[in-house]
Amino acid sequence: MRFDIMTLFPDLVSTVLGESIIGRAVKAGYLEINVHNIRDYSEDKHRRVDDTPYGGGMGMVMSPVPIYSCFSSITDEKTNSCKRRHVIYMSPQGKVLTQQRAMELSKNYDNIVILCGHYEGVDERIIEEIVDEEISIGDYVLTGGEIPACILVDAVSRMVEGVLASEECYESESLTDGKLEYPQYTKPYEWNGRKVPDVLISGNHAKINQWRKEQSEIRTKLKRPDLIEKQ
Ligand SMILES: C[S@@+](CC[C@H](N)C(=O)[O-])C[C@H]1O[C@@H](n2cnc3c(N)ncnc32)[C@H](O)[C@@H]1O
Repeated sequence: MRFDIMTLFPDLVSTVLGESIIGRAVKAGYLEINVHNIRDYSEDKHRRVDDTPYGGGMGMVMSPVPIYSCFSSITDEKTNSCKRRHVIYMSPQGKVLTQQRAMELSKNYDNIVILCGHYEGVDERIIEEIVDEEISIGDYVLTGGEIPACILVDAVSRMVEGVLASEECYESESLTDGKLEYPQYTKPYEWNGRKVPDVLISGNHAKINQWRKEQSEIRTKLKRPDLIEKQ
């Protein structure tokens, strides 16, 4: 999977995505993550990328001109042979990201191009021109699309083959089947007077699986009854 992220703050994105499991998956060649500084595509002598809004109002709006030049260089067939491309604008006006949507994105595309807005956002015409989908990470407003982009890349990448040790790692996880995961325990067996449930040290895998299934249902009812109502 190839990701191309268009941003005014490339270091913010590169730092987050260069670490841990995602960073390792890039080094191992399972993912390609290219971070593009929109400012590098400004034709303005002061490298400006934004301007005041038409009609007045607070803040600055990102110009469509450098964003489009940046996008054109990403999609240039001489350097990008991906055929299943999807362009996403991170936006509080988009549909809220779900595990299901992250899974679909990981399976349906080989190149996800992400536009990160900042300030008051981007000129509407660039959305009309290049964007396939707007995605929000929740019903609140952040200062920029960089953190949302990192969240999207992380959620999608975990389901790209090779990134996790095995598909089982995400298949049993919370939200994948509309339920929350069962409780997890590790050593020591007893800690602060609390013991690990006996069934987990019984060695009986059928019983362990049954217990996990029941726990998953119990905690979904308790913590996220809305997930059950949706089924
Ligand atoms: C301050 S916001 C702009 C909000 C815009 N004026 C509006 O009211 O819809 C700046 C940028 O942060 C990003 N952003 C903010 N909240 C977000 C969210 N919940 N999900 C995804 N991106 C978000 C978007 O890229 C947006 O262009």
